[in-house]
Amino acid sequence: MTEATSRTYAESLDGSDPLAGFRLRFEIPDPAVVYLDGNSLGRLPAATADRISTVVHGEWGDRLIRSWSEGWMDRPFEVGDRLGAALLGAGPGETVVCDNTTVNLYKVLGAAMSMRPDRSTVVAHRGEFPTDRYVAAEVARSRSGSVKWLGPLDPSVPFPVSPVTANDVAAALHDDVAVVLLSVVDYRSAALADIGAITRAVHDEGALVVWDCSHAGGSVPLDLPGSGADFAVGCSYKFINGGPGAPAWIWAAPRHHGSMTNPIPGWMGHEDVFAMTGDYAPAPGIRRFMTGTPSAIALAAVDAGVALLEEAGMDAVRAKSTALTSYCIDLADSWLAPFGVEVATPRDPSQRGAHVTLRHPDALALTQALTDRGVIPDFRHPDGVRVGLAPLTTRFTDVHDGIASLRALLEALG
Ligand SMILES: Cc1ncc(COP(=O)(O)O)c(C=O)c1O
Repeated sequence: MTEATSRTYAESLDGSDPLAGFRLRFEIPDPAVVYLDGNSLGRLPAATADRISTVVHGEWGDRLIRSWSEGWMDRPFEVGDRLGAALLGAGPGETVVCDNTTVNLYKVLGAAMSMRPDRSTVVAHRGEFPTDRYVAAEVARSRSGSVKWLGPLDPSVPFPVSPVTANDVAAALHDDVAVVLLSVVDYRSAALADIGAITRAVHDEGALVVWDCSHAGGSVPLDLPGSGADFAVGCSYKFINGGPGAPAWIWAAPRHHGSMTNPIPGWMGHEDVFAMTGDYAPAPGIRRFMTGTPSAIALAAVDAGVALLEEAGMDAVRAKSTALTSYCIDLADSWLAPFGVEVATPRDPSQRGAHVTLRHPDALALTQALTDRGVIPDFRHPDGVRVGLAPLTTRFTDVHDGIASLRALLEALG
C-alpha cells in the first residue's frame, strides 16, 4: 500500500471519491488555490450566475413589480422548504430563509423567552460565537434577566475541544431558565453537540432550546423535528454556498407555530401583508418570522446552493466530511505535531463537524503566510489555524497540499 502521507495516496482517495464530480459544478477560476475556508464562505456554484441573471433580467427587468405576485412573495418559504427537506429533516412550512443569522437569533430567542414568561434566564456558552453571546445577553437584559454562562471563566483557558454534553447543560439548569442557546457545531473546535440528548435535558427542566446550526447546515445531516428541538437558525453562505451575505434561515417546530411571537413584527410577517391597516396581526406558521422585504436575487443564490446538496445527499456529504477531517488529522499528527501543533478538534469523527482547528502559538502569522502562498484557511482567536473542509469542493489532494505547506512553513521557522 502507498504510504499514507504520500500525494499518490491523496490522489487515490480523490479517485475513489463518489462526490468528486461536484467540484466541477463550481466556478474554480484558479485551480492552484488550495481553498480551505469553505466553512466560512463557500465556493460559487456554476449555476448561480444564471439563476441570478434570470431573476435580474427576466423577473426584475421584464416583469418588474408584477414579480412579487408572480413568485417573489413565496420564495423565502419555497427555498426554506427545499433547504429544510434537504438539510434539516424538516417538513413543508417549517423553515423560512430571511435576514441574517444574528437577526434571526434575536427573533427566535425573543420568541422562546416570551413562551416562558415567568422565567428570565438564558443559558449559553462563554465560548459561543460572539453574535450569539451578544444576542443572548441583550435578550436576557431586555426581560430583566441574565445569562448563565457555561464554560470556563478564565479567558486564558484554551477553548474546549470536546462537545458540550447533556450533563453539562443539565447542571446549569434551574427553574428560572427559559431558553438554552447552543451551537450544533462549535465554530472553533468543530465539536458536535448531541442535539437529541441536550434537548431532552432542557425540556426535562421546562425550558426551550434554540440551536445555532451555522456550521452544521450543509455539513452534518440534521433531523431537527426528530431531535425534539424547539427552534433553530443558521446561515447560508458557508456549506450551503449561497454567497456573501446570503440570507439565513429559521426553523421552528410546528408545535410552536401558534404560540410563537416575533419580537421584530414587520409587515412581511403580517397575516395580510397588503392590508396595511390596524395593528400587527401575525401570519400563521413560520411566515410570522418574516420582518421586511426579502431579496429575490439573494434567494436565487441560496436555492442554487441548496440544490447541489440536495442532489449529493447529506449522508454522502457527511461520509466524505468525516473522511476529509480524519485524513487532515492524520497528516497533522504525522507532519505537524513535531512542531508543537495540537489538534483542537475532537478525534472521534462522530463528535466533530467539517473543519479541523490546529492550535499553534504562531497561528495568526502562519495563516497569513499560508494565504500568501495560495493556501487559504482562516485564523481563529487566540491560536487556531482553522482548516475548513467543505465536502462538495475540497479534494483530498487539497488537504495534502495545504498541510504540506503548513509543514514547510513550520520547518522554515525552525
Ligand atoms: C456560529 C455562528 N453563528 C452566527 C454567525 C453570524 O451570522 P450572520 O453574520 O449571518 O449574522 C456566524 C458567522 O459566521 C457563526 O459562525
